[in-house]
Amino acid sequence: LAATMLAGGLNAASAAELTVGFSQIGSESGWRAAETSVSKSEAKKRNITLKIADAQQKQENQIKAIRSFVAQGVDAIFLAPVVASGWDSVLKEAKEAKIPVILLDRDIDPAGKELYLTAVTSDSVHEGEVAGKWLAKTVGSKPCNVVELQGTVGASVATNRKKGFDTAIASASNIKVVRSQTGDFTRAKGKEVMESFIKAEGGGKSICAVYAHNDDMMVGAIQAMKEAGLKPGKDVLTISIDAVPDIFKAIAAGEANATVELTPDMAGPAFDALTAYKSKGTVPPKWIQTESRLYTAADDPQKVYDSKKGLGY
Ligand code: AHR
Repeated sequence: LAATMLAGGLNAASAAELTVGFSQIGSESGWRAAETSVSKSEAKKRNITLKIADAQQKQENQIKAIRSFVAQGVDAIFLAPVVASGWDSVLKEAKEAKIPVILLDRDIDPAGKELYLTAVTSDSVHEGEVAGKWLAKTVGSKPCNVVELQGTVGASVATNRKKGFDTAIASASNIKVVRSQTGDFTRAKGKEVMESFIKAEGGGKSICAVYAHNDDMMVGAIQAMKEAGLKPGKDVLTISIDAVPDIFKAIAAGEANATVELTPDMAGPAFDALTAYKSKGTVPPKWIQTESRLYTAADDPQKVYDSKKGLGY
């Protein structure tokens, strides 16, 4: 890295000179694949060298990747932490090596706050609240048994999306979460867990709604419901998170009802914050929040589907 010294001992570097190591979780969902592809294109736009390490959903692989990035002397590390805890030692190593770490899309435990520069994430508690409020408004006073497909156990987004949803429905005594289990953010597990919910709920007739922490699990759940002779989107309400193209296909077909958007562009704002930090010493806010918005059938799902294609999906 060619660099000049700024007042205060900071190095002035242009984006073109930066090398960033990105410890990515894996490719568990359509959203994740889009995040990886958007990260590559955002790096390319800025002439940043991006090295991506796919951890295949394992924290130990992420820890190894971070250590390898430190050994290579990269200018910064992006980390999408699969779970919230267990990062202290490795992030201390990065800090000692004076390599800034930026979290993407998931958080770590609050005790680790000093160990990273900034986090580019959505407000995942709010996402759960948006989902819960939509459901409460849609069912009105009708009794409603909900089954919940949770994300990866220990992931900040799974904990928060559950918390936000529970808070939003807390005052609606007619809405009850009757079953809740992890589907690990994958389509296959979402289908498998939904099949077990349907079985346990007498063929699914008592299920009024499915809340899934991501769209991929919902797409799997929709398949399971159809195979069991249920009508998702009609007899069973669906609400999930991400806003990936496939859920708009399902909404357009009347087989899903709503989704809360999560942008796959976490890297763009992270690169901008990093460049400003490296070149001008600008310390970014601890949290760079991305937007979350609700989509339903009223939002012309076919048009949204068409517009999403090409945005990394
Ligand atoms: O951390 C973001 C979540 O991870 C997305 O909602 C999900 O699809 C992904 O696997």
